[in-house]
Amino acid sequence: MAILVTGGAGFIGSHTCVELQQAGYDVVVYDNLSNSSEKSLKRVEAITGKPVKFYKGDILDRDRLNEVFEKEQLDSCIHFAGLKAVGESVAKPWEYYENNIAGTLTLVDVMRKHNCKNIIFSSSATVYGDPAEIPITENCPKGQCTNPYGWTKSMLEQILSDMQKADNEWNVVLLRYFNPIGAHPSGTMGENPNGIPNNLMPYITQVAVGKLPELGVFGNDYDTPDGTGVRDYIHVVDLAKGHVKALKKIEENAGLKIYNLGTGVGYSVLDIVKNFEEANGIKIPYSIKPRRAGDIATCYSDATKAKEELGWEAEYGIKEMCADSWRWQKNNPNGYED
Ligand code: NAD
Ligand code: UFG
Repeated sequence: MAILVTGGAGFIGSHTCVELQQAGYDVVVYDNLSNSSEKSLKRVEAITGKPVKFYKGDILDRDRLNEVFEKEQLDSCIHFAGLKAVGESVAKPWEYYENNIAGTLTLVDVMRKHNCKNIIFSSSATVYGDPAEIPITENCPKGQCTNPYGWTKSMLEQILSDMQKADNEWNVVLLRYFNPIGAHPSGTMGENPNGIPNNLMPYITQVAVGKLPELGVFGNDYDTPDGTGVRDYIHVVDLAKGHVKALKKIEENAGLKIYNLGTGVGYSVLDIVKNFEEANGIKIPYSIKPRRAGDIATCYSDATKAKEELGWEAEYGIKEMCADSWRWQKNNPNGYED
């Protein structure tokens, strides 16, 4: 039996394929490559020494999905495929609802028709909106999302939870990621954003490599220790390992489970700049800009539940996240295009 990894050529998916293969699972990747390169899977193979079976296809394409389920013996699905650019989702809400929601509805319908009723879903801390409590536990109520991307995650959590309630043959694990950064320590795999990065760490590494002149810090008047936004940054390899633990939970027929995947520690934007400079010996010029619309002051997890129930906790610290992000960028200034 194999694990279907939708969106497996992407940033988190490709790192998860490494951890799955290293834990002894066979993986089948399904991706339309709209935001990734098949080359990432060659890097996975180089690290693990095992082949990755790849199908190019869209989660909206029912026929193609059926074909994959007919050819492969699939036991569970880790569902990463989705569009994820917050700003773009504000400009193109229909495209986000179509891709993420209609795509997931198609995927789970094909899954149940083939009696594959185990799914791990990539959700996000964004479902908490402006969180009612800090640190954020899984009991914190879901909040008002500030963009269509966030709403797709919130709605898909609801849809998958309702499906599990109606049919308890389903096992559904909703993983709420905090801020994934870092890269594989080999320096051969990492985040490969298209165009100018939206997220903090890829922006910093592109400043470090000389592609961008300086970092803009979005606001220094938040109610935080230094006035800049505080987030829970988590190494992508730790995040990937969380999926292997979640699969073990599914193997126990766990029903519906929800876990935060974070470190439980918050760092400000200026903390990240300082740690990056110290870890890598590179100065990051920056200037203070106005707040970015939709941003909140502080967001970090209480990661106790994943530790107690999954036996998972983040192992890498902020210096390793900064060093590994930089190693990837330095060795691959143009991502997978080199
Ligand atoms: P990514 O863009 O690198 O990976 C997503 C992959 O899905 C890409 O390879 C893309 O080509 C593929 N894809 C998109 N639409 C598809 C479709 N219709 N059919 C088939 N494949 C499709 O992003 P990532 O950072 O690896 O994120 C993975 C998942 O985790 C996403 O669902 C994202 O929303 C979620 N998530 C990411 C973050 C983050 O900060 N990176 C935080 C929280 C949640
Ligand atoms: N920031 C800057 N300058 C930049 C980019 C970001 O100052 O050029 C700041 C932001 O204002 C924020 C922090 O850095 O305070 C982190 O911003 P990111 O864009 O890296 O991450 P977000 O917390 O905004 O959101 C990310 C993903 C979402 C996901 C969320 C989960 O983009 O998809 O983490 O917590 F839902």
